[in-house]
Amino acid sequence: MNKALRPAVIAGNWKMNKTPSETVALINEMKPLVADATCDVVLCVPFVDLAPAVQAAAGSNIKIGAQNVHFEKSGAFTGEISADMLKEVGAEYVIIGHSERRTYFGETDVTVNKRTLAALNAGLKVIVCVGEYLEQREQGITRELVSMQTKIALGGVTPEQLKQVIIAYEPVWAIGTGKTATAQQANEVNAAIRGAVAELYGQAAADGLTIQYGGSMNAGNAEELLAQPDVDGGLIGGASLKAKDFSIIVQAASK
Ligand code: PGA
Repeated sequence: MNKALRPAVIAGNWKMNKTPSETVALINEMKPLVADATCDVVLCVPFVDLAPAVQAAAGSNIKIGAQNVHFEKSGAFTGEISADMLKEVGAEYVIIGHSERRTYFGETDVTVNKRTLAALNAGLKVIVCVGEYLEQREQGITRELVSMQTKIALGGVTPEQLKQVIIAYEPVWAIGTGKTATAQQANEVNAAIRGAVAELYGQAAADGLTIQYGGSMNAGNAEELLAQPDVDGGLIGGASLKAKDFSIIVQAASK
């Protein structure tokens, strides 16, 4: 982290977990545990949990986000949710391009870009996910790949809008597997992403960008990962479903 240059952000990605009533219970449990955070705290919950989550988090330092958004404003897109809908229900953030969406739901760099623009234009903050598969890491193309994913995602994003963007580097082989990138690996790729953003927007804008690491970040390894200068926070899956574990990560980012 380098809090002099950019905010640290710890975001939970609950994935397809927690019903509305379970959501309220978990947020109520988390609120006192993260109240003293000096980083930003975000919980990205399933669509149907958004309204109860916003209500449960009201008056606290926890911000609520969604996990996907459609790129059109409205229309015949059965089963989809627009950015305006998220905004009105009180979501402030949305995760875009998570590897599970890329792998299971046909998400591509092009649709990631369309969703990013739609969300930003509606006034949402975005957490754009990039990351390589194990084969790509073994091929030695990680830095090129994530740089490309980042640049495509940001196509058409204005310098002003970039201030509402967070990039999450999530090596696919580390997600939900218990295999974490080493702190050095995470820092190296995050630095490459910052370099790619600097090519597009200049060094000052890139220095102001929050770049998270995600992939089996937990209460035990968060401090070491967050101690890296280019690791500005975390996108937390499994460990964000347990109030105590999540709060330990938040504390690590509050040092
Ligand atoms: P994990 O998930 O922390 O369970 O590995 C991270 C993510 O997918 O965002």
